[in-house]
Amino acid sequence: MAILDIITVPHPVLKQRARPLRPDEFGPALAQRLSDMAETMYAAPGVGLAAPQVGDSLRYVVIDPSEGDERGRGLTKMVNPVIEERTRENQIYGETCLSVPGLEVDVKRSLGVRVSWQDPLDGARQEAWFEGYDAIVIQHELDHLEGEVILNKVSAFRRSRYLKRLLQER
Ligand code: NI
Repeated sequence: MAILDIITVPHPVLKQRARPLRPDEFGPALAQRLSDMAETMYAAPGVGLAAPQVGDSLRYVVIDPSEGDERGRGLTKMVNPVIEERTRENQIYGETCLSVPGLEVDVKRSLGVRVSWQDPLDGARQEAWFEGYDAIVIQHELDHLEGEVILNKVSAFRRSRYLKRLLQER
């Protein structure tokens, strides 16, 4: 296990559209990479982490919106996740992102989503419904795979002011 460095804006890997994993890329090495991402997520601490945030422009994410609550879904490792269906109803929540430190942005997202994905070890297909906070977390992480971060959802003025302050702090 290893704790990975989390990449922050304005790094270009966070703006790239990540590519899908090929069948020959599944196996122990990929499973280990997602385990390392999970360890990194818990250490941060965070409730989700997408591959571009650790420098991999590839389509995988880890999520654990339950934050240790045993009633929750727990840790889910997803390769090539796809939103298959979404509710018409939306929700708005003040989101934060490990790659955009110190910023909270109100984001409107679907109340529920049906997601399919593959298991990192054997590529087995899985599918589940996510609702409420779980749905927020999965939609946030899937945005990362499109090169989209919450910083893109604020005004140009707020974005440039945020980046200026962030770069001054370094
Ligand atoms: Ni994020």
